[in-house]
Amino acid sequence: MIGLHFSEHIQSAVLFTPAFAFLQERLVGRNAFLFTDEGVLSHYRAQTDELGLPCFAMPAGEAHKTQETLFSLLGAMSAASLGRDGVLVALGGGVVGDVGGLAAALYMRGIELWQIPTTLLAQTDASVGGKTAIDFCDVKNLIGVVKQPQYTVVDTAFLHTLPPREIICGLGEMVKHAGLDGTLFDALRACDLRDLAAISRLIPANLRLKAEIVQRDPHDKGVRRTLNLGHTTAHAAELSVAGLSHGEAVLVGLWYESKLAERHMPCDVEYLEAFRALVLRALGHDLGSVDFSSGLPLSLRDKKNADGLVTLVVPVRRGETAELRLPYAEYAREIVAIGEELR
Ligand SMILES: NC(=O)c1ccc[n+]([C@@H]2O[C@H](COP(=O)([O-])OP(=O)(O)OC[C@H]3O[C@@H](n4cnc5c(N)ncnc54)[C@H](O)[C@@H]3O)[C@@H](O)[C@H]2O)c1
Repeated sequence: MIGLHFSEHIQSAVLFTPAFAFLQERLVGRNAFLFTDEGVLSHYRAQTDELGLPCFAMPAGEAHKTQETLFSLLGAMSAASLGRDGVLVALGGGVVGDVGGLAAALYMRGIELWQIPTTLLAQTDASVGGKTAIDFCDVKNLIGVVKQPQYTVVDTAFLHTLPPREIICGLGEMVKHAGLDGTLFDALRACDLRDLAAISRLIPANLRLKAEIVQRDPHDKGVRRTLNLGHTTAHAAELSVAGLSHGEAVLVGLWYESKLAERHMPCDVEYLEAFRALVLRALGHDLGSVDFSSGLPLSLRDKKNADGLVTLVVPVRRGETAELRLPYAEYAREIVAIGEELR
């Protein structure tokens, strides 16, 4: 178990245990509501039916991380007469976790939230830290709050039904963590990235890293910004390229931003080459050409920006990152130039 303490009043626990047995045992006598998505439900309906909870399943995918889904969920919680002492169980990937977390924070000004992450991305990253959000006005995660879950229950058995592409998405955040921590970098480099059991063994260390960073900076004012490694360019890629998932976009962002680091920062070039090799191994293919044109201007609205400059967290040395600030025009020019090197 990883225990997290955010204040006298807010404590969270990350448990590595079979999820449905945990829910059967701990929900006895509790007023609870299950939130999931249709994709997860199609694989786990027998187990969720057995829980006998009122349930709302959103359509799967980022396109539904919207106010409509949020308010439909809140409506279903109200229709089920979920009370102030209720628990919202969010069973799914990062999308379910983000929308469910926001609903738990809003409903009756806040009810208990239990996160049951079912994707590699959610099990290594999204289910810990308390960030919740929906996308709004074409901006990712524009509306959200910080809401710490009471429990995050990690059960790696869920990963066996995950499509291979979703494993790559999770690897995106794991490579990001490897950019923040030299020991994780070595462990991921040594890992056979097509071996699910080997990848699963790295989950606790990834969550421990995330938990430690979040605990030092629960409100995202300092060291937690490092968790944005590669993400400025990742968000631009995600918004520019139809069909690119969040995790794949993170890998693209990490690759481009390591190149930016080489062009603008004192850095260890040999390390950055090894880092990019890891990115490509995780992606499973070459980067190809990425047309960022439609998403890049949205980097102007990135919450890390200051003094009118685009602010990026880039890898520079083993286990070390730095903030790079560039005027938007220069950032955009550089991204195009790096892309041209690939042609
Ligand atoms: N809150 C945070 O700290 C944080 C961190 C990173 C990412 N995120 C967010 O997470 C989201 C991405 O999450 P994701 O990659 O988990 O995507 P996702 O939640 O959309 O899930 C991906 C797909 O996998 C399916 N699925 C989930 N679990 C399954 C299982 N066990 N077996 C079979 N299918 C399964 C889902 O139905 C969905 O179709 C993004 O919106 C991103 O912004 C949040």
